[in-house]
Amino acid sequence: MSILVTGGSGFIGSHTCVELLNSGYDTIILDNLCNSKSESVKRIKEITGKDVKFYECDIRDREGLDKIFAENSIEAVIHFAGLKCVPESISDPLSYYDNNIGGTVTLCQAMAAAGCKKIVFSSSATVYGSENPSPLKEDMPEGKTTNPYGTTKLYIERVLKDLYASDNEWSVCLLRYFNPIGAHKSGRIGEDPNGIPNNLVPYITQVAIGKLDHLNVNGNDYPTPDGTGVRDYIHVVDLALGHIKAVEKVLGETGCNTYNLGTGTGYSVLDVVNAFEKANNIKIKYEIAPRRPGDIATCYSDPSKAKEELGWVATRDLTEMCEDSWRWQSNNPRGYEE
Ligand code: NAD
Ligand code: UD1
Repeated sequence: MSILVTGGSGFIGSHTCVELLNSGYDTIILDNLCNSKSESVKRIKEITGKDVKFYECDIRDREGLDKIFAENSIEAVIHFAGLKCVPESISDPLSYYDNNIGGTVTLCQAMAAAGCKKIVFSSSATVYGSENPSPLKEDMPEGKTTNPYGTTKLYIERVLKDLYASDNEWSVCLLRYFNPIGAHKSGRIGEDPNGIPNNLVPYITQVAIGKLDHLNVNGNDYPTPDGTGVRDYIHVVDLALGHIKAVEKVLGETGCNTYNLGTGTGYSVLDVVNAFEKANNIKIKYEIAPRRPGDIATCYSDPSKAKEELGWVATRDLTEMCEDSWRWQSNNPRGYEE
């Protein structure tokens, strides 16, 4: 029996595959490599000393999916595959709706046809929108999303909830991630963004390595302690371990459950800059810039439901996140391109 990991060569997927293999699960990766490299699969094998089957396949390719389900005995799917760039989703919404929503529908159709009805899905804190106050709890109403990327996450959650309502044999876990950063301790796998990073920590590591001149801090006039945006940063290995607990949940019982995966602590942009400087003894040049459209002041989780029902808590602190992000970036200045 195997676990199929869609998007398994990407940032969060690769770290989750390592933890799946370390926990003894046979693991199969499906990825179309639109935002990752097959080198990460090699490194997953290197870190774990275990073999992984890899299929270069698109989740919209029904024939390809049917073949994978026919060739393997797949018990559950962890579904990471999707496009995730917010500005790109605004300029090219159809690609996001097609890839993320269309792809998930095709994947679920192939799963149903193969009799595999257990899925763990990568959702996002973005579904809470801007109206809910932090700490965010799973029973709060979903908010208004501010970009097509966020809308795809909201709609996919609805698709999966409707699927469970139509057929109670399904077992669905919707995981709402807060802000994943950090990297595996080995420094061999990590986040490898294309072009100039949109997200804070990859931007900071590229300033640290000299690829970018300085960080633009997007606004210092938010109603937060130091005026800069507050987020719930979570180490990607803690996030990966949350998926192991979620897989155990979907393997063990049917149902449709939603969980926040966060630490429950908010840090500002300047807190992260200071923590990175201290952890790695590197100065990060920054300038205060205008607010980024669509950003909210504060977003952090109440992670107690995942603790109570999955037995999962994040244990790695911001210092460790900063050390591990930097180890990955400094050991791999050009990401997976040697
Ligand atoms: P990533 O881009 O590194 O990984 C996604 C992987 O999916 C990539 O390897 C890409 O090649 C693959 N992919 C995309 N479309 C595909 C398709 N049609 N068929 C097959 N493979 C496809 O991103 P990540 O940071 O690892 O994120 C994983 C998931 O978690 C995504 O769904 C993302 O939206 C979600 N998420 C990420 C964050 C974050 O901050 N990184 C936050 C919340 C949610
Ligand atoms: C962003 C996305 C979110 C997505 C997540 C993961 C937006 C509005 N939100 O979340 O939908 O799920 O990434 O891909 O894009 N910052 C700077 N300078 C920078 C970059 C960021 O000051 O160069 C600040 C931001 O204003 C924010 C914080 O750092 O306050 C974190 O930003 P980021 O890492 O992009 O994450 P989110 O905005 O939380």
